[in-house]
Amino acid sequence: MWQVYTRRRRIRWLAIGFICLLLVWCYILYKSLAINYDQPSLHVHSSSLTTISSFLYDIQNLDVFLKHTPVKYNYHIFYYPWYGNPEYDAKKYRHWNHPRLAHWNREKASHYPQHSHIPPDDIGSNFYPLLGAYSSRSPEIIDKHMRMIRMSGAGTISISWYPPGMADDAGYSWDDLIPRILDGAEKYKLKLCFHIEPYKNRTADNIIHWSRYILRQYGSHPAFYRYNDKGFFYVYDSYQIPSNEWHRALTSISVSDRQAYFVGLILKSSDCAQLATSGFDAAYSYFAANGFTEASTSQRWKSIVDICKSIPFIPSVGPGYIDTNIRPWNGETSRARNNGNYYKQMFKDVPDGKDRIVSITSFNEWHEGTQIEPAIERTDLKSITYEKYHQGPFTYIHLTRELIFASDR
Ligand SMILES: *[C@@H]1O[C@H](CO)[C@@H](O)[C@H](O)[C@H]1NC(C)=O
Repeated sequence: MWQVYTRRRRIRWLAIGFICLLLVWCYILYKSLAINYDQPSLHVHSSSLTTISSFLYDIQNLDVFLKHTPVKYNYHIFYYPWYGNPEYDAKKYRHWNHPRLAHWNREKASHYPQHSHIPPDDIGSNFYPLLGAYSSRSPEIIDKHMRMIRMSGAGTISISWYPPGMADDAGYSWDDLIPRILDGAEKYKLKLCFHIEPYKNRTADNIIHWSRYILRQYGSHPAFYRYNDKGFFYVYDSYQIPSNEWHRALTSISVSDRQAYFVGLILKSSDCAQLATSGFDAAYSYFAANGFTEASTSQRWKSIVDICKSIPFIPSVGPGYIDTNIRPWNGETSRARNNGNYYKQMFKDVPDGKDRIVSITSFNEWHEGTQIEPAIERTDLKSITYEKYHQGPFTYIHLTRELIFASDR
């Protein structure tokens, strides 16, 4: 009788102990997940923790910050305001849920996944942002971005732009956001110019029409970038419009009427002459994948400057390239960051010239992995891995500043 009683009691205590352990384990699991979702900065490498917390929470005196953080306005950085999340964007994610694009060859396409990403943990990028799956419309995000860009040393933002009511397939119109971004830029004494995207039915004539719209709407804002007193427009994939059409449209404006400076995209050095005769004011190369086109081959830049002669060449430097989370079949185009050495080489290959404008691809093109925006490693996810920067989230903000100020441009 006694023996049976103690054995029962022992079993009961064992069961209670086991349940307690289970509860503790559940609690620990819950806590670790909760931390990873809410406070990405907490699981960042400890040596960079001070930088991040001080960055995110204290700027005691803006004037002092600006004084100690100079920028160069001839460095233009490409900026994408197309990201959205449920809090700010009608309960939807935008761009973070980018689909995996099918290969144009159907047989090849069948070997690769094609489903969309499911944010916030699964996003269309090989990196994960320090600021999470953010909305470009969040005032807090705009402020942090402007502060990060200020810290990078690049003084001019080249913002991706579609006419009102238009956008790319994954986003929605953001022209209405421009005034807030201009205000944000002004707070940090940055300048804003425009990167005209290939919107529907784009023609040389309507690009000129929209450039006038932009000048009318935003030209009087103190953060509006002016170059020789003109508005400044990069035209992405400008070669899609025939050069005779460009020529007709651009030369129909008299010199005194010309209020805009147009920069066309070149793929190869010989495109320059055509741009010049069409009436473009400069050429740029955009692509951060070194060698992707002749114009984006940094070793070729010195000769491209010579070949271009009649118009300035604006090389585009970038920290690397990887887009296999949205184009799973495109590993060939990947360029490893190589602990910052890839970026350093591109900067080193920028031809001399005191007045040279240099563009940076990019602040936040996360899909193509060209961003310098702070990224974090995430260790909490089972099947997804994101790349990290070798010296913590701010690696490329600091490196950009270092490289910009190491040059006498
Ligand atoms: C583009 O042009 C076609 C043909 O003229 C027209 O039907 C369509 O509405 C235009 N689309 C936009 C977005 O302007």
